[in-house]
Amino acid sequence: MNKAVIIACDFNTKQDLMKFLDLFPDEKLYLKVGMELFYAEGPAIIHEIKQRGHNIFLDLKLHDIPNTVQKAMSVLKNLQVDMVNLHAAGSKAMMEAAVRGLMREDGTRPILIAVTQLTSTSETVMQQELLIDKPLEEVVIAYAKNAKDAGLDGVVCSPLEAGRVKENCGADFLTVTPGIRFADGEKADQARVTTPAKAKEIGTDYIVVGRPITQAANPLEAYRRCVREFIG
Ligand code: C5P
Repeated sequence: MNKAVIIACDFNTKQDLMKFLDLFPDEKLYLKVGMELFYAEGPAIIHEIKQRGHNIFLDLKLHDIPNTVQKAMSVLKNLQVDMVNLHAAGSKAMMEAAVRGLMREDGTRPILIAVTQLTSTSETVMQQELLIDKPLEEVVIAYAKNAKDAGLDGVVCSPLEAGRVKENCGADFLTVTPGIRFADGEKADQARVTTPAKAKEIGTDYIVVGRPITQAANPLEAYRRCVREFIG
């Protein structure tokens, strides 16, 4: 199993991203590119990052009818990204269509993971606005199982949920976990946080780390510390 520290590149412009990447001349990184940067810069930003030899998690969280998601995924597969995602709420049929769309002619495809419930959705909002009358954790686990049944590789979840996801979906089912902070660092707006060392102990596969690296006085040193604590 490949464990990795994924850096959340929450930059507004290509210039800011490239300036940041220049700090890592000798590292092969795993970078999360979100909607903001992708919509601003388009597929060209993916090609530029790939040219520098980095891996990419393209975080676009697709959610639409199965046919549309299948077609969108069949476009994304040509970008040579390493990981993409979608919303499990789109149904098993949508997730199965996504797997079909992503498959390349040589039988390979990017890793495909599902968002279960956004961490910005509280249990109260889920129950009272979305009318899902169940405990949040039960919904997360049920959606993770749907993703597994549909042939996906894993889910994005809180590190605190990763253990239960693995118990229910198997050790090989990937967990990708944001909400990571150093023991001596700032939490910023993340409420439920875990250190890289604790994430390692829980057994999560990928940690997604943004500000503790991107806003650090020395991003290279912060990245290396993260790798040391999480991978060893
Ligand atoms: O800066 P920070 O380490 O909090 O960044 C975490 C990254 O993970 C951000 O890009 C954020 O949008 C993303 N994320 C998250 N919680 C989720 C899903 C994604 O923090 N449930």
